[in-house]
Amino acid sequence: MKYLIGNWKMQLNESESEALAAEVVRLWAAQGATKTDVTVVLCPSHMALEEVGKITRGTPVAMGAQDTFWEDKGAFTGEISAKTLKELGCEYCLVGHSERRQFLAETDEMVNKKVQALLRHGLVPIVCVGETLDERNSGRRDSVVISQVRVAMNGVRLVGAQRVIIAYEPRWVIGSGNAVAPESAAEMHHLIISTLQELFAADIVDRQFSVIYGGAADSKNLAGFLAMDVIRGSLVGGAALKPLEFAAMAEIAADAVIK
Ligand code: 13P
Repeated sequence: MKYLIGNWKMQLNESESEALAAEVVRLWAAQGATKTDVTVVLCPSHMALEEVGKITRGTPVAMGAQDTFWEDKGAFTGEISAKTLKELGCEYCLVGHSERRQFLAETDEMVNKKVQALLRHGLVPIVCVGETLDERNSGRRDSVVISQVRVAMNGVRLVGAQRVIIAYEPRWVIGSGNAVAPESAAEMHHLIISTLQELFAADIVDRQFSVIYGGAADSKNLAGFLAMDVIRGSLVGGAALKPLEFAAMAEIAADAVIK
């Protein structure tokens, strides 16, 4: 299984979100019905979830949210629970995106509580990890990512067929238009997998975790990433806002599965 996940961030209003969702569904509907080894997920902002959910329901395109809160209900102004996301039709949810870590001081401990809440409600967490340029340049790339994965997964037990996606996104690459080399991304994927193997049984890591790459991914570089077996998909920002480009990436992911 390969994943192609579009993170729309705060780029679109509600009608733009609906139009983009409808276009992606139209472009992928016929293909996606036959290419079931690729999961295409759209992550609109919270305000568009209800309408986008109506568009994706019953199609091969799934919906995810960009964030959640760890409690189910209560006095938590401005937050949205995993329970509500589920009711809105979300199957996936990003947590710990670097923009939330940077602008909203989201910590690994918060990410961990969100992961547990999502699993409790049957959603698949997409846990974003990745180093800053400063951390990379000072030789802390690996230790930062290992620690992000360890804390995010602290106390997590996967029951049944529960799944978790880890998205490795080098923070300095996001929005830059210059992705890292596939070999460098693959090295980090191996590091993440060996960290997971310290925490979970090997067969669980194999079957229930997927590690994907994010950061300036587009239709030109995606095949190079997916040629690496260890890279199970991509979390896409800018290129996910262009329906033809995003549909082309879904096709590339489907081809990568066949090869
Ligand atoms: P870009 O694809 O625009 O670099 O963004 C990546 C990202 O942050 C996805 O979550």
